[in-house]
Amino acid sequence: MIGIFDSGSGGLTVLRKMREVLSNADIVYFGDIANAPYGSKSRAELSALTVRAIQFLQSRGATSIVSACNSVSASLAISLFDIFSLAPTQMVEMVGPTVSQFKNSDARIMLCATPATIQSEIYQQAFQMIGKTICAVPLPELAGAIEFGASREDVRHIIREGFADLPLARFDVLILGCTHYPLVREVFEELCEPFGVAVYDPAEAVAARAQKLFGESEQGSGVTTFCITKDSPSFRARVAGLFPHSPATVEVVQ
Ligand code: DGL
Repeated sequence: MIGIFDSGSGGLTVLRKMREVLSNADIVYFGDIANAPYGSKSRAELSALTVRAIQFLQSRGATSIVSACNSVSASLAISLFDIFSLAPTQMVEMVGPTVSQFKNSDARIMLCATPATIQSEIYQQAFQMIGKTICAVPLPELAGAIEFGASREDVRHIIREGFADLPLARFDVLILGCTHYPLVREVFEELCEPFGVAVYDPAEAVAARAQKLFGESEQGSGVTTFCITKDSPSFRARVAGLFPHSPATVEVVQ
């Protein structure tokens, strides 16, 4: 079984792409809505929440893990693999698959993400390794606003403010470095496309990595179980909207 986790609804954007390439896998999804948003938490808090999420998924039978949360990527240190008896080939996270997509590209890259992700410098350093300097832009309010159902106008206002001082026309690509952001992709497109900036969602690259690593071993009946730490009508509505045809249950867990 594959376990996938996020602070809430963001990981659904990754799961949606995973389902396209891993249709038979049994998947358990953990959305930690009681502790959302993650992006303004400290590294120590995020490490503790990461441990708890992976332990929960393993207790439900997950042997392959997908971290669909960029904000915890810096917490996924090698030592965790020992703690959880996981081999590196049993874990997929967001940063590696995303950065590798740009290895042979000349694109001038902007990345927006939560403060936790930007402050960890994990993307900036990974891009440096392939010889690229990126412009990293924190959008502190956005993931929480999306999680808790803010209006399109409020979402547009938050993004516009975040981009206010940026020379957008100097970039070719905007990477959505938070899995919540593709849920409002059209607002990013509306603000970026007039400047010639293409919006990039890493979900497909992450799903392809999961398929490559887990595709052969994860053959089940295609069932998804959603576990959330706090009930949320907007999470339930998103599940119904994004996965109308797959058998799924939503459980509230402590
Ligand atoms: N969706 C997560 C991410 O990719 C977490 C966002 C949050 O809870 O602040 O960073």
